[in-house]
Amino acid sequence: MSKIKNIGVLTSGGDAPGMNAAIRAVVRAGIYYDLKVTGILRGYEGLINGDFIEMDRKSVANIIQRGGTILKTARSDAFRSKEGRIEAYKQLKKSEIDALIVIGGDGTFTGANLFSAEFDFPVIGLPGTIDNDLEGTDFTIGYDTAINTVINAVDKIRDTAESHDRLFIVEVMGRDSGLIALRSGIGVGAEAIMIPEANMGVDGLVTRLETGRKDKASKIIIVAEGDEMGGAFNVGEVLKEKFPNYDIRVSVLGHIQRGGKPSCMDRVLASRLGVAAVEGIIAQRTSEMAGLKNNEIVFTPFDHAIKHIDAKEITPAWLKLVEILSL
Ligand code: F6P
Repeated sequence: MSKIKNIGVLTSGGDAPGMNAAIRAVVRAGIYYDLKVTGILRGYEGLINGDFIEMDRKSVANIIQRGGTILKTARSDAFRSKEGRIEAYKQLKKSEIDALIVIGGDGTFTGANLFSAEFDFPVIGLPGTIDNDLEGTDFTIGYDTAINTVINAVDKIRDTAESHDRLFIVEVMGRDSGLIALRSGIGVGAEAIMIPEANMGVDGLVTRLETGRKDKASKIIIVAEGDEMGGAFNVGEVLKEKFPNYDIRVSVLGHIQRGGKPSCMDRVLASRLGVAAVEGIIAQRTSEMAGLKNNEIVFTPFDHAIKHIDAKEITPAWLKLVEILSL
């Protein structure tokens, strides 16, 4: 591998709070190590279209506190095809970019892994997704902010639930992952948490509600959008039939979970990982994600990072914790 002089940076997939802090760290570390940093707009779409901007110290000033991504993002269909990736490679060569840092989730890393292997091109990833569903890092950038957004919203819903003696079913994000539901559910003291990795089913839910406190009419159930029962409205329909006396309401939190100022945890995580990614590229690493495990920087091959092997907290011990606390 020849000496790296120009690093391209992009954000791809769903935006996540802290992506800007990561971009800032990549740019500042690049400058520190005497490298040129090129911003690529709209993820892999911009890569294919040659939508590039030169980044300097000033272009990342005053962004550490901002949600979203100044580089914009997209879910690119074109990059899934070989033709799209060839086009992307040509654009990189044309602009003399010799390495890439991609910030995103499993879709982003799947594309990066293919691209890096096909063109022998150095790519390092940063975990940027509110879902926290990547191996090789305890937390992804955006997750902490998202779960705090959820608990702030559900605390407010709890006021109405208590005042009206209502049962609320709150749907949170996580198409394939229940990690947002699990942590935020514990954080708000939910009576039940429904997640795709450990389906409790209608019977399990009914039992949980029947065994819970009888003198407490207000209840909160957190449902991950990917749960097998097909979302909060379906759960609501089922419960209305089973518990005709409950006053049931459904609330879908949606994209408020992706927006807003990143928490301090996310800003610091993004800053550490952004610098680590540049240092990884300089050390000639490739096809790996920089993550944080036990507060140490670690690099994990892309194909491992996207595998969802240990499902983090979705373990019997955590599920038991939810059950104990729901009594
Ligand atoms: O991957 C992040 C995420 O917010 C998921 O939790 C959610 O299922 C999905 O993105 C929604 O994506 P979009 O904004 O493209 O509809």
